[in-house]
Amino acid sequence: MLGIETSCDETAAAVVTGDRKILSNVIFSQLADHAPHGGVVPEIAARAHLSAINRVVEEAMKQSGISWNELTGVAATAGPGLIGGVMVGLMTGKAIAAQLGKPFLGVNHLEGHALSPRLSHGVEFPYMLLLVSGGHSQILLAEAVGKYTLLGSTIDDAAGECFDKSAKLLGLPQPGGPHIEKLANTCINSADAVTRFDLPSPLAGRKGYDFSFSGLKTAVRERIDALMSAEGTIRQDDAAALACALQDAVAKHLSSRVKRALEACAQKPTALVAAGGVASNTAVRAALEATAKKFGLPFMAPPSALCTDNGAMIAWAGIEHFKLGKTSPMDIPARPRWPLDEKRLQQSV
Ligand code: KG4
Ligand code: ZN
Repeated sequence: MLGIETSCDETAAAVVTGDRKILSNVIFSQLADHAPHGGVVPEIAARAHLSAINRVVEEAMKQSGISWNELTGVAATAGPGLIGGVMVGLMTGKAIAAQLGKPFLGVNHLEGHALSPRLSHGVEFPYMLLLVSGGHSQILLAEAVGKYTLLGSTIDDAAGECFDKSAKLLGLPQPGGPHIEKLANTCINSADAVTRFDLPSPLAGRKGYDFSFSGLKTAVRERIDALMSAEGTIRQDDAAALACALQDAVAKHLSSRVKRALEACAQKPTALVAAGGVASNTAVRAALEATAKKFGLPFMAPPSALCTDNGAMIAWAGIEHFKLGKTSPMDIPARPRWPLDEKRLQQSV
């Protein structure tokens, strides 16, 4: 299956087999195009996808070592995401499928992330899933392909956004998450950093499984203001300590809400699973692993390259649906919004 991903700022294509082999996984990042603007600009993204898509798809096919005719089908992200970019990938996928006379599958980008641990680890349903990316922070119970029960989501910013905005305040490049992690790794005494900055614990003791990250971002801004010298600079060791404290606060917030969801889950899941860009953060992974252990569950997260946006997870979601006999009509639309599950479990805890 060929998978195409263009929903944000990565033009990606991959070829994956039905038995979980990734034959190729090509990712072309538009980082340089967006860098001068300090964030992703939708118009620039759409144009960059358009100019890169053919090259990226051809490269994915070349690296896979299989011919176009050997493909079982073509899958492409149909949303949610920046609509201009989604349209580029979706139209390309449809055109290739039509030309080859092969089945086409329009994939929900979030489902791509949600099913990625089945590609990397073959995890069985039902599993508790923490989906944490630049645009989403959700706890879902994944019960079957296409069946995801949303337990909690963010009431303000996404976890990745918190990292990105804090990184911007610290003068780090975008997307900020990996830079915060790198900076935090240079902090010599993490326990001391956590006590020193005393960042808030969002929604501590509050009912439900929702997240909140905007308070953390505000607290980071206040701590930076306090650390700022008269020349408007901040010492490298102070910045490293603050990055470390932020990472710790995010990891604790994520794992404490997941813990509540696991406590309330009537059905014992097979595993605790994390996916999405933020799931590649080592401190976040460690906190989730410790939480899973308390419940006697294995913790799984795809390797970094499958956590951030990629074509392999889209190909895999296409494969999962195709195995169940599903394909998409050629007029499947591009959707800027497409929740995995609109209904909420009653938050009685
Ligand atoms: O899943 P993804 O690649 O794109 C979206 O669908 O949003 O996630 C990107 C987000 C960005 O906010 C980025 O800063 C964050 O994931 N991220 C990280 C790390 N790597 C990526 N956050 C913290 N630590 C990381 N190592
Ligand atoms: Zn994503």
